[in-house]
Amino acid sequence: MKGKKIVLGITGSIAAYKAAILIRALIKKGAEVQVVITPAGKEFITPITLSALTSKPVISEFFAQRDGTWNSHVDLGLWADAMVIAPATASTIGKMAHGVADNMLITTYLSMKAPVFVAPAMDLDMFAHPSTQNNLNILRSYGNHIIEPASGDLASHLVGKGRMEEPEKIVEVLESFFNQQQDLKDKKVLITAGPTYEKIDPVRFIGNYSSGKMGYALAEECASRGAEVILVSGPVTLKEHHPNIRRIDVESAEEMYEEARRAYTDADAGILCAAVADFTPDHTADHKIKRGKDGMTIQLKPTKDIAASLGATKKEGQVLVGFALETNDEQQNAKGKLERKNFDFIVLNSLNDKGAGFRVDTNKISIIDRQDTTSYPLKNKSEVAKDIIDRLVQTLNKN
Ligand code: C5P
Repeated sequence: MKGKKIVLGITGSIAAYKAAILIRALIKKGAEVQVVITPAGKEFITPITLSALTSKPVISEFFAQRDGTWNSHVDLGLWADAMVIAPATASTIGKMAHGVADNMLITTYLSMKAPVFVAPAMDLDMFAHPSTQNNLNILRSYGNHIIEPASGDLASHLVGKGRMEEPEKIVEVLESFFNQQQDLKDKKVLITAGPTYEKIDPVRFIGNYSSGKMGYALAEECASRGAEVILVSGPVTLKEHHPNIRRIDVESAEEMYEEARRAYTDADAGILCAAVADFTPDHTADHKIKRGKDGMTIQLKPTKDIAASLGATKKEGQVLVGFALETNDEQQNAKGKLERKNFDFIVLNSLNDKGAGFRVDTNKISIIDRQDTTSYPLKNKSEVAKDIIDRLVQTLNKN
């Protein structure tokens, strides 16, 4: 954080008192902090406290009152290495989502060239309201980083999800962002990707529409963040680019099983993104099967479930991530898989969502773990990969 310039936006929530602690923590790490506060924010924490902590005048109005000089939000947008809005109220989140630039904080946000981090703070029902959730999804789609609120006691005396994440955690998020290239350094990650082909005869197979795009995007993301990646890939037309990716080509579910098991033994994490055949022909014909007058039946037998096998032998500290592509009862089916296969979290994409799933460049996912479901808007697969790997890093750090 040394030398990093942070614009800290403070809004009108009781959690504003935590902004003082956040400033202290940032300054201790060597950052420079400029506060921009909304009029309501000043009701919760005084500018005197904030300017004393930051050694800078606090910006709140469009015009500096005494001499009439203009506070330039454009200059702030260029100055900052990051903008953090903590606490962010439902109102500010809504204004950010819709460009309602009626205060200095929102104009600064709209001028911001640097990445923006938003730490919501509000009562549980306000947080859960579809309006808030939709606005947060809009912010995510703009590329803003949402620092999810924690669950616990709220100022309203209710208990639930809505309290602003603790300042130390917010600093951690920022640090890991600035060190992003490094946050998977010294980690080995196994990724399975693409379809499998199950041979019927020398020229025919049972396959599926998986393109491998999601798995390859995950591999590039992990490698660019410092991981050593073993990419066990079914037949695809894609190329890997990063030198930290070691690609092992396989064709059948059986081959993928062997390679994935071998790679997972000493891996820190496994991401099972491949669309593995669930059945394979009982017998592969040695010669091309000839046309005949009668119909024909291919007897199938189940393949080995790679995910379940890795889940069953998962060692302490190892993380396992699965995917679920569902066409019905999505949430319930995905949760069942999470348990059965012993995943740490599962990424759900539904064929019912336009732009999600096979062959397309975009995906719309939900991440489900044992506590929560987080839904993301439709994004490019490389941006989706970032969201998934952010969660992977969080999970690895917790272990
Ligand atoms: O049960 P289902 O195939 O829908 O589960 C999907 C998840 O399980 C994916 O993560 C997929 O990569 C993995 N899987 C596997 N081996 C199989 C079948 C699925 O690893 N034979």
